[in-house]
Amino acid sequence: MSVLKLTTHNFRNLKSTTLDFHPDLNFVIGDNGSGKSSLLEAVFYLGHGKSYRTSNLVNLVNFQESQFTVSIRDGNDRQLGVSRNVSNNETQIRIDGKRYSRLSDLVKNVAVQIVTPESFKLFIGGARERRRFVDLGLFHVKHHFSVQWREFSKVLKQRNACLKSNDSHSMLSYWTELFCRHSLEVAESRENYVSELVAELKIWTLLLLPKIEQDITVQYSQGWNQKKDLLEILNANKERELSYGHSLFGAHKFDIKFLINRRVIDVKLSRGEQKLFLLALTFAQANLIKKVKRVKPILLIDDVGAELDDNSRTLLSNAISELDCQVIITAIEKNVLEPFLCQSKVPENEISKHENFKMFHVEHGQISVMSE
Ligand SMILES: Nc1ncnc2c1ncn2[C@@H]1O[C@H](COP(=O)(O)OP(=O)(O)OP(=O)(O)O)[C@@H](O)[C@H]1O
Ligand SMILES: [Mg+2]
Repeated sequence: MSVLKLTTHNFRNLKSTTLDFHPDLNFVIGDNGSGKSSLLEAVFYLGHGKSYRTSNLVNLVNFQESQFTVSIRDGNDRQLGVSRNVSNNETQIRIDGKRYSRLSDLVKNVAVQIVTPESFKLFIGGARERRRFVDLGLFHVKHHFSVQWREFSKVLKQRNACLKSNDSHSMLSYWTELFCRHSLEVAESRENYVSELVAELKIWTLLLLPKIEQDITVQYSQGWNQKKDLLEILNANKERELSYGHSLFGAHKFDIKFLINRRVIDVKLSRGEQKLFLLALTFAQANLIKKVKRVKPILLIDDVGAELDDNSRTLLSNAISELDCQVIITAIEKNVLEPFLCQSKVPENEISKHENFKMFHVEHGQISVMSE
């Protein structure tokens, strides 16, 4: 799907508005503090049920208000929206006029990926970031994964409770056996997905970082030593786990590493190259989601001018034209969009009157359409 219409009400500093987006390519220009990231955050919120910048809901509602609403009309003419009220903690989700109570009902319909200056934590942050990244793709590409993950999480919680409380050790072997079974299921799905992601990543690094494409390797840990049986590991580490009070091995410990000539990305690549690698990874995931065809992914790229030189932006523009997704790009200055604009120009002899991108300007939270 793509966002054709976006309505926001009381979201951050954005003035309540309805915008018509281009189904493929959109640019948003504005000064520091104008509201560019807030606009991307509103779209992101629909796809994730949370922000990428804050875990505190209060920060998302306009400082003077207590409730925000974000809704879209997608390319299939569906209407999806969410309202959050921070005073009474109420969540309202509406899909085509029908009410739903769970954010998961909403987010499965909207596949949003974002590349922002914060995305570098995929390399420098802990394993949780990388797990989240991989699991987001899995969630959209392998439809049984969300059920598998939910079941696994329930068992993990029960097993941890057993490890913590001294009087439930008799139940520990029951939950351990279940925990192994669910860990293996999750690990198998991740293994299949990671091999698809690695193959796809090759295609996009060839476009975005052609010089290092050959040197990339991907290593991952399923959460325990792959050569050993999980049950044996857990039995051997029973005392340790009891003293920690939680599970030290299992599918929740999955991690993935991206290496260039056997060195980690943040050591081996410059900031600009790291950003291109991030984009290649995001494009790889977006393309896998697209192939499943349930949803057309939406790609948000915040502050495209940061870290990328002219040549890198030209490579990015070429890669975007290979990807059949909807893209929303923000920039502080219009001139950094030059490589995208010259490629997107409709040829003079083209009969079509349709523009192949749309440009917006944000000023103090007010968004307006820019004519060229
Ligand atoms: N809950 C809120 N209510 C009202 N204003 C807010 C809220 N949260 C943040 N703001 C303000 O919104 C403004 C826009 O922030 P935003 O991060 O969207 O700017 P930006 O255009 O992305 O800027 P930059 O180019 O620096 O990244 C900021 O000045 C910020 O103080
Ligand atoms: Mg910003």
